[in-house]
Amino acid sequence: MNLSILAKNSLIFALDVPNRKEAERYVRLLSDTVGCFKIGLELFIKEGPDVLKIVKQNSSASIFLDLKLHDIPATVHSALRSAATHGVRFITVHGSDGGQILQTATEVKDLGLEVLAITVLTSISESELGGLGYKEGLSLRQLVLDRANIAKKSGCAGVVCSGEEVALIKQKCSNDFKAVVPGIRPIWADIKKDDQSRIVTPREAISNGADLIVVGRPIRDAKEPSVAALKIIEEIESALSV
Ligand code: C5P
Repeated sequence: MNLSILAKNSLIFALDVPNRKEAERYVRLLSDTVGCFKIGLELFIKEGPDVLKIVKQNSSASIFLDLKLHDIPATVHSALRSAATHGVRFITVHGSDGGQILQTATEVKDLGLEVLAITVLTSISESELGGLGYKEGLSLRQLVLDRANIAKKSGCAGVVCSGEEVALIKQKCSNDFKAVVPGIRPIWADIKKDDQSRIVTPREAISNGADLIVVGRPIRDAKEPSVAALKIIEEIESALSV
């Protein structure tokens, strides 16, 4: 596959916008540049599954439904089956509650749905783990790796992790186990300190082994979102060509 197609397919834009009108504006603007649109809680709760049509009608990009499911195995399984009817490629399930929930991923594989397990949200820093009830001295990298191993054994297509742990995951899990990295902050992006904690640049994420990166605010809030997306594509291309 040529480098620019590879770079485009590695870029997921987070459609974190309040309504379908805004969603349509960004899909039209970025449909030639990004390989996948991620629809998360804000847009999905406001507009419902109908909002997926905006992506399907205006682009050939795939769809990532980032609902971060977190419930008992039977409920997650039914939710995944419902999601599979919408023609989405990726969906997220929280990876904190172990194998039984994640095993539901295997049951929807043949419906074309790739389940990604959330390891530890990129907004969480290592210093917060103690306060969240984890045992003293547990490293965040170890926690992420443990969850990635469970996700792999359970049949998930991959995980969502930060750019700080991605190299370890690619080294310890097999190479075809996908690592999707949010918390992307290009050096040139005009973004104040926000809720993200474990951040890396697009180049660092790809060089460390990310298969796909998720970018929201650095593109959405740029003066010219399509120019920002192209700059990120250039960074991905240059990291891939090393
Ligand atoms: O605006 P920003 O680039 O921080 O957007 C990151 C996106 O990735 C958001 O939609 C967020 O919900 C999502 N995400 C994340 N961390 C995870 C999983 C998903 O930031 N672990």
